[in-house]
Amino acid sequence: MSKAINGPFIVTGASGQLGSQVIENLLARGAAPIVAITRTPNKLAALLERGVDVRAGDFNDPAALGTAFEGGGRLLIISTDDLEPGKRLAAHRNAVSAAKKAGVSHIVYTSLTNPDENSPIGFAADHRETEVLIKQTGISHTILRNCLDADLLLMNGQQAVGAGALYAAAGAGKAGYVTRADCARAAAAALLYETGSTVRDVTGPETVGQSDIAAILSEVTGKEIPYVPITRDALVSAMVGNGLPEFMADVFSSFDMAIAEGCLDVATSDVEELTGHEPQSVRDFLLANTAAVTGQG
Ligand SMILES: NC(=O)c1ccc[n+]([C@@H]2O[C@H](COP(=O)([O-])OP(=O)(O)OC[C@H]3O[C@@H](n4cnc5c(N)ncnc54)[C@H](OP(=O)(O)O)[C@@H]3O)[C@@H](O)[C@H]2O)c1
Repeated sequence: MSKAINGPFIVTGASGQLGSQVIENLLARGAAPIVAITRTPNKLAALLERGVDVRAGDFNDPAALGTAFEGGGRLLIISTDDLEPGKRLAAHRNAVSAAKKAGVSHIVYTSLTNPDENSPIGFAADHRETEVLIKQTGISHTILRNCLDADLLLMNGQQAVGAGALYAAAGAGKAGYVTRADCARAAAAALLYETGSTVRDVTGPETVGQSDIAAILSEVTGKEIPYVPITRDALVSAMVGNGLPEFMADVFSSFDMAIAEGCLDVATSDVEELTGHEPQSVRDFLLANTAAVTGQG
């Protein structure tokens, strides 16, 4: 970390889980002015009272985005959650183009670990191509390649506890799971301090495999929860059987494929370099969220 740079600090997706934590981090650090952009400004009335400039903005409405980004500043583009093929990239294209027109001085973007052509993750191309669009603007930027969200393990963990075993199609692969809280701290720090153009791998402190996770779940619950490797087809069938739409089951199972193939086997010191603090480990995260894992949260 070095000296904070002048804002405004603009955060899109401000009502989302990540965006709201980024704004809390910025407020806690005394950053100002802060601009929060969301499709639902009414949800953020409380931020207005705390001095945040809340503006309406939807990446699918490029004309209005011009007003949202007016005045420029340092912009965090949070990738949207629209996984319908083609839609997210089109939305990101609008956001990047509006940023350029508004004279934004630095773009921070939440990407994905190793989003190259070989990634089995169905939507990796959205991130890969958004990174290219950002580079093409010529604006200095920080690409934050966020690894798998450790918070996903709360849902997986609860299912494993219920089933008495952790079923996954990740083979013996490992991933650098990182908590959402650490992603938020890293994004706030990038907005405040990063200069030039860099790609940062936002990961936990180490990579962990499904057998490590099963061992932690056993420790958390006091019951033996083994890891049972299964095929992708079996995983998709189980997810669909549990009511998940097939295209979502495809997306989630592609994370397991990416782990199995080593695409997410990345652990770096980037979070610590950005924030000054070591990221939380999966073990500490699950121990801190025992109630959620056991379904009592
Ligand atoms: N690496 C991982 O494992 C992982 C896991 C989960 C999510 N993610 C990514 O990280 C992002 C943030 O995660 P989250 O947990 O905060 O998700 P979330 O709570 O579901 O929030 C989704 C976000 O997408 C924004 N959004 C959706 N459509 C938009 C549009 N048309 N224009 C502008 N913004 C739009 C929302 O903004 P408003 O509603 O405020 O407008 C909101 O901030 C996700 O959208 C996803 O791309 C990554």
